[in-house]
Amino acid sequence: MKLLVLNGPNLNFLGIREKGIYGTQDYAYLVKMLEDKAAAEGHDLEVFQSNYEGGLIDKIQEAYHSGVEGIIINPGAFTHYSIALRDALASIEAPVIEVHISNVHKREEFRHVSVTAPVCTGQVVGLGLRGYALAMDYLTQMDAN
Ligand code: DQA
Repeated sequence: MKLLVLNGPNLNFLGIREKGIYGTQDYAYLVKMLEDKAAAEGHDLEVFQSNYEGGLIDKIQEAYHSGVEGIIINPGAFTHYSIALRDALASIEAPVIEVHISNVHKREEFRHVSVTAPVCTGQVVGLGLRGYALAMDYLTQMDAN
């Protein structure tokens, strides 16, 4: 299966930023974990991070053209206000799983709202980096669900 993992702003700072919330593993660890898992299971995976809204939108549009079959996205803070990102996700038919490392519902009120979740297939929230792996399992085993 052709898969794309997208990470939004500041996620490249995993292991540096707010370790009590996001943990001590760095972004390279997350990328390797996902690449190893995809390789072991025979999937074609690209992992992309951008601190820019437009960078993520370009990648989503590119995914449409290149036939990506499933997207895992942690939009970071864009989750809470990016209508442009929501519109990009709504444009494509491939299933999209939104992932949040932290339990956003236990945090500040502005994090309780996701403008992107309503155009996603589902959401994994608060399960740490494992959330990405669980989202991948869902996408690759959708026929079994
Ligand atoms: C986050 C939660 C967001 O509120 C925050 O802005 C992030 C990370 C998470 O993975 O828990 O950057 O998406």
